[in-house]
Amino acid sequence: MAHRYFTTPIYYVNDRPHIGHLYTTVVTDVLTRYRRLTGDTVRFLTGTDEHGQNIEKVARKEGVAPIVVADRNAPRFRELFRSFGVANDDFIRTTEPRHRAGVEEIIRRIAAAGDLYLASHEGWYCPPCEAFYPEKDLAEGACPVHGTKLEWEKEENVFFRLSKYEKPLLSLYDEGVGGKPFVFPDSRLNEVRSFVAAGLKDLSVSRTTISWGIPFPGYPGHVVYVWLDALTNYISALGFGGTDDALFSAFWPGEGSDARAVHVVGKDILRFHAVYWPAFLMSAGVTVPTQVVGHGWWLKDARKMSKSVGNVVRPDELVQAFGIDALRWHLVSEMTFGQDANFSDEGFLTAYNADLANGLGNTLSRAVRMAADAFGGKTPSERGRPNDFFPNAAEFAVKEWETAFEEYRLQDAARAIRVLLQSIDSYISTHEPWKIAKRDGASPRLHHILWDCLEGLRVAAALLSPIAPKTAEEVFRRLGAPKRAADVTKRDFAWGQLPLNALLEPAPPLFPRADPKVFFGSRGEGQSSARKETKVTTDNSTDSSKGRTADGSTGASGAIPAAPPEAARISFEEFSRIDFRVGEVIAAEKIEKSKKLIKMTVKFGEDVRTIVGGIATVYTAEQLVGRKFAFVTNLAPAKLMGVESNGMILAATMPGSGEPSLLMVDPAVPSGSKVK
Ligand code: MSP
Repeated sequence: MAHRYFTTPIYYVNDRPHIGHLYTTVVTDVLTRYRRLTGDTVRFLTGTDEHGQNIEKVARKEGVAPIVVADRNAPRFRELFRSFGVANDDFIRTTEPRHRAGVEEIIRRIAAAGDLYLASHEGWYCPPCEAFYPEKDLAEGACPVHGTKLEWEKEENVFFRLSKYEKPLLSLYDEGVGGKPFVFPDSRLNEVRSFVAAGLKDLSVSRTTISWGIPFPGYPGHVVYVWLDALTNYISALGFGGTDDALFSAFWPGEGSDARAVHVVGKDILRFHAVYWPAFLMSAGVTVPTQVVGHGWWLKDARKMSKSVGNVVRPDELVQAFGIDALRWHLVSEMTFGQDANFSDEGFLTAYNADLANGLGNTLSRAVRMAADAFGGKTPSERGRPNDFFPNAAEFAVKEWETAFEEYRLQDAARAIRVLLQSIDSYISTHEPWKIAKRDGASPRLHHILWDCLEGLRVAAALLSPIAPKTAEEVFRRLGAPKRAADVTKRDFAWGQLPLNALLEPAPPLFPRADPKVFFGSRGEGQSSARKETKVTTDNSTDSSKGRTADGSTGASGAIPAAPPEAARISFEEFSRIDFRVGEVIAAEKIEKSKKLIKMTVKFGEDVRTIVGGIATVYTAEQLVGRKFAFVTNLAPAKLMGVESNGMILAATMPGSGEPSLLMVDPAVPSGSKVK
């Protein structure tokens, strides 16, 4: 199995961490946990970026040495990440001697390649970015990232011959590394390519106006430009420039090595990682990393959440009210990886109630309670039958989840878990095990049904383990199948492993339902961070699909379409002409000649009809049977692949993939009910 090295950016220590910083570290943790689970040998690095003008300024204001500020704030990052279950193997601080040794070594090599020279320099400088911007990149004279006023700076600097690496960089973007594009996603690769293709200027890599940095070897009075300093952390942490190169040889890619290095970064710093960093490495004769993965921003009020803008959300209060895993789940499931998303407490709360309180928590307590009541506090003593519904649903979820992870579609990996939980929930509602228990006692049928549900939950917990590790462990424990999240492997996804007659742990709700009225009750409009008075209730009885928009998201993230112009709107009468109904799929089969179509027999009260849906790329026929969905029933009949369809199943279109996501209906709603 391959050696994989994952890194986060190293964070500036001029402030306490906020949700944005946490996001990068949590998603990287999720990716490393996934990789470990597949059997790879993984190393995960995070840390703090402690030199530069910003830290120097804060220190000056406080009248202390910069290292005092760094020493105060670095542990805040380290501790926050630890409390979030982040399993990093190393935490580097750029003020450590091992890092300085790495920086000195890379500069020695770059100088030996003839790529450094002294020249004078002036330009627009953004202190929060620690970068110069060309006039054309300014947004009305301000920084394109922070929107803050820029400073005109002039000094004599050491320059790096970046222009020399224009062609090698373009080849890197065209060819990728080991068959994978150098930058993910493609849209960002294109941005980077255009930037380089437009022509690269040499880069100033030293500063003389500040003193808080690593002295530039060979240039007294200069300190190393913070980005050359910071980027080198990825190799200095592996021992580059030191005396022991064992980690570097194992985890940094090179001739004949199986190592892959992936840098996960926010899109704001993609250019530094995808242009400057590989150029520095090429110059120093070090292999470039395998991939730079750029994710989007968490926005607050439509602006990037950032300290200099003053719109940050801190994790503390949300965590206090809802727990670490609730926030981990939200960060992963609500942002389409690679795109921006808006952070709101309303979105957080709706998703929390839908996915965790109801979807996971309620389904788990229902199933465990019923099994414990029926089988004397234990798991069933007979397994479900092999051709029952669940093995398929679980297998489908595992497949979806794996491809989603491979393609960095973390939100879809979360969605696969959500769908599996919804299937378990509707399976319980459809088969009404409580009635069977009342009528026939602990019959074989009851054993089969409840074993299926509990086993489905075990698989869901295994899939959840990289995203919400503590929760996964708690689910395993309650199911009588205890396991540490870190010990989960792909083998745990195989159906059929729930122990028979094991002790169940019925316990209070895993995620008590939060009442939005209580949550927002004591605040004025527009307030946006969780409060201590947040009250959680234990009423978990509502349906898991409530409060979600059609694509299964909460409406909290992604672009919300603007209202259409007046002329494009329809009247209520026009709307009322469409007959939307709840229908129950009572039989379904794939239309063999077609990749997409499934023929369904759907019951609307007394009325039973055939409806064909283009959903086979996402759903299997087995998954649909016994479940209720929303349909349009008064469409003119249409023939699809020779089958007459009398209606249409409603599905949201997933942004990006374009795949359908069926609209879930509370199983308690009778088929035939009107939807309006
Ligand atoms: N120190 C540099 C990085 C050097 S890496 C060699 C830096 N630090 S930072 O503290 O400003 O933040 C870095 C990263 O935090 C961003 O690239 C991004 O990964 C994450 N985020 C900070 N704000 C964010 C959002 N609002 N949303 C999502 N992630 C954000 O830049």
